[in-house]
Amino acid sequence: MPGTVRAKVHHNLARIADSARMARTARQVLDERLTYLSVGKLRQLENAMAMTKRVPGGVLECGVALGGSAVLLGRYAAARGRTFDGRSDLFGLVQGTLERYGLELDGDVRLHKGLFEETLHPAGPSR
Ligand SMILES: C[S@@+](CC[C@H](N)C(=O)[O-])C[C@H]1O[C@@H](n2cnc3c(N)ncnc32)[C@H](O)[C@@H]1O
Repeated sequence: MPGTVRAKVHHNLARIADSARMARTARQVLDERLTYLSVGKLRQLENAMAMTKRVPGGVLECGVALGGSAVLLGRYAAARGRTFDGRSDLFGLVQGTLERYGLELDGDVRLHKGLFEETLHPAGPSR
């Protein structure tokens, strides 16, 4: 198989695997009642992440509630060496959830305690 065809096949397989993985995570957070979002909204979130994958910069969620969408966004960002910053008013609970889903906090994935208007600065997420 010529190199360019092989590269395209590889790229498409990686995309399919990626999308299956994300859909599985979305189902898991729904089953665990970790999100207020509907299946449709989670799907929109996945599409938005896919559409913006070449946009430089990190991912920021203001108000993570129980952490369902944060799991999705954090996993997606971490898999691509991007940062994820979540703003949480339920810090301890969401911290436990993210860790349970295999996200290591304080590397590329960070959770900030408190209201985002108090912790978010135009220069970038504060630690
Ligand atoms: C609609 S919920 C987010 C739903 C979440 N994306 C999910 O997967 O279920 C909005 C969250 O933002 C939080 N919130 C509202 N105002 C906030 C603020 N100023 N700073 C931080 N969190 C805030 C609320 O407490 C709530 O947890």
